[in-house]
Amino acid sequence: MNTAPVSVAQLAGPAGDQFEQYAAAPFEYLRDLRSHGSIVPIDLGGVRTAVVFDLGVIAAVFVDRLEHVGRPLVFERLAHVMGTGLITNYDWDLWLARRKRIARPLGARTVRRLHTRMCQIIDSELSRWPTGEPVELHDLVKRLTLRVVADLLFSDDLTEEAMEVIATAVSEIHAWAESDPANADIDARPASFNAAMAALDGYIGGVLDARPPGNPGGDMAGLLLAAVDEPDARLDRRGVRDEAVTLILAGHETVTNTICFAIDLLGRHPQHAGAAARFVVDETLRLYPPVHVTNRAIIKDLVVDCDRGTPEARGVLLPAGWEVLVPEYVIYRDAKCFERPGEFLPQRWADDSPLHLERRAYFPFLTGPKFCVGRHFALLEATEAIERFRARFRHEMTDPTPPWGREFAVSFAPDRPMGIRLWER
Ligand code: HEM
Repeated sequence: MNTAPVSVAQLAGPAGDQFEQYAAAPFEYLRDLRSHGSIVPIDLGGVRTAVVFDLGVIAAVFVDRLEHVGRPLVFERLAHVMGTGLITNYDWDLWLARRKRIARPLGARTVRRLHTRMCQIIDSELSRWPTGEPVELHDLVKRLTLRVVADLLFSDDLTEEAMEVIATAVSEIHAWAESDPANADIDARPASFNAAMAALDGYIGGVLDARPPGNPGGDMAGLLLAAVDEPDARLDRRGVRDEAVTLILAGHETVTNTICFAIDLLGRHPQHAGAAARFVVDETLRLYPPVHVTNRAIIKDLVVDCDRGTPEARGVLLPAGWEVLVPEYVIYRDAKCFERPGEFLPQRWADDSPLHLERRAYFPFLTGPKFCVGRHFALLEATEAIERFRARFRHEMTDPTPPWGREFAVSFAPDRPMGIRLWER
């Protein structure tokens, strides 16, 4: 770098508090911001925010310079629920010790061991889906994915009653986390939320108590429990609970969205009905990424190298106290990175596809050390669900208008009921 870095605050961007404009139409707002540059400073309700489109800067923030980033404001509420669980944990030593434990059974090869159980659950759920009359897809898929992730954690301790406890807690947590985006009153928690959390903690505590010491079981709860006595694991019983709640929350709605949007896209584009399930999943995650924006707090001044068109001035300072916002869903629909970006074209993911594809610009599971620890599990589950769904049913979506995602929710979930009609093949 030839010159002193320029502060992000001095780069081109719209003046004044942008919260209302942003909230009115987030996707369009973020897309249009790009005309200012590849890093754009905005004020979001008093939070100084750098919106980042530059792929090199994204790599610096997520991959290389972890010690400069911390938990973003949007995670405050989830942190109350997930505690020290991986997602909201930014104490890097503690996080790394935990991450190693949890990543092992979820690795690319080890996860295949869960394949048979996973497929049995998927088939048993699909066999309950009603044919003939229109039904709501999201509720059906939610049950399927909840069973799959809860089985990963608790296997044989998972009863219908437990499913109900977990499902209620998940919907209470989502409602509470989304009720007050500005976090004005984080201590106000509705009685129904408190009751659902107490029931969830009671269930998890009961499962852990019942596991025989020395033989806690081979599911994720058992593996975590076994680690409690190991000196380097940095895990106590509260930590096991936090990781269990984190895995449920992280692994449930994200996969639900993926399967729902994939089925919706296949229904609206019958010409791609036979596309490889993995390409369908990749293309769905591009058009409807469950994590559609990612935030980080900058906790220590960070200078990033950013190509702003003038070679003598590449260094940009992201000062401590700022937040970074990466708008994944805007990047994934950028024509410079993905040819014919608005179209559902699963074949674009084939190695021999002539369509231009910027792979660096696609990271639905994030990039860097904090990337999704459930990635292999999620891809296996979503791909199997699509494959098995297609083998069993023909379908059509009943709403002629395609859905969009909920942009102020915990994840980019469908913004309306998804009516579907199914016929047995
Ligand atoms: C298609 C489905 C999924 C998508 C698109 C997805 C995406 C992501 C993304 C983008 C992150 C990073 C969040 C951040 O740091 O801001 C993340 C983290 C995480 N995901 Fe997933 N996820 C999916 C499914 C799952 C599943 C099935 C599980 C568990 C079985 C899971 C567990 C986690 C956990 C524990 C983290 C935190 C990792 C860490 O901070 O070390 N995810 N996921």
